[in-house]
Amino acid sequence: MASSSFNAQQIILSVVIAASLFTLTQSATIVVGGSENWRYGYNYTEWAANTAPFYFQDTLVFKYDNTTAHSVYMLPNLWSYLECDFSKAKLLSNPAQGGGDGFQFVLNQWRVFYFASGEGNDCKDGLMKLVVVPWPRF
Ligand SMILES: *[C@@H]1O[C@H](CO)[C@@H](O)[C@H](O)[C@H]1NC(C)=O
Ligand SMILES: *[C@@H]1O[C@H](CO)[C@@H](O)[C@H](O)[C@H]1NC(C)=O
Repeated sequence: MASSSFNAQQIILSVVIAASLFTLTQSATIVVGGSENWRYGYNYTEWAANTAPFYFQDTLVFKYDNTTAHSVYMLPNLWSYLECDFSKAKLLSNPAQGGGDGFQFVLNQWRVFYFASGEGNDCKDGLMKLVVVPWPRF
């Protein structure tokens, strides 16, 4: 009796450890744009469609040289995303923050993320915007 309940506890503990290891190894770090990084003129809508699904707790990395002056903003809704309206946008990464290992953003909220560069015509003409919807991991 005592020994069988001990075994049950061991089994439950093993399952919990295995599940947390699984979660740890599963969360990914993804460079936005891949080898193109975060640049003017690359189609990030297409990149996101080809790269999806993105998962909750994945890390997005925006890499850009500070000499090219891009940024990363989070836009509040679909309309501002479509219109490239930054009036209520939140600055996540300024033009100096994309160097080295890049700016990292963890998808740690259950929401639709609208990202765009707020410099010059990056958003309107430069295709520097993307929508990311995190999926749950099972
Ligand atoms: C970017 O890619 C999307 C999705 O494939 C496509 O609908 C859109 O026309 C492309 N934009 C340009 C300017 O090529
Ligand atoms: C751009 O990055 C370089 C290398 O990290 C740094 O030395 C320089 O001060 C930065 N310039 C600006 C304007 O942030």
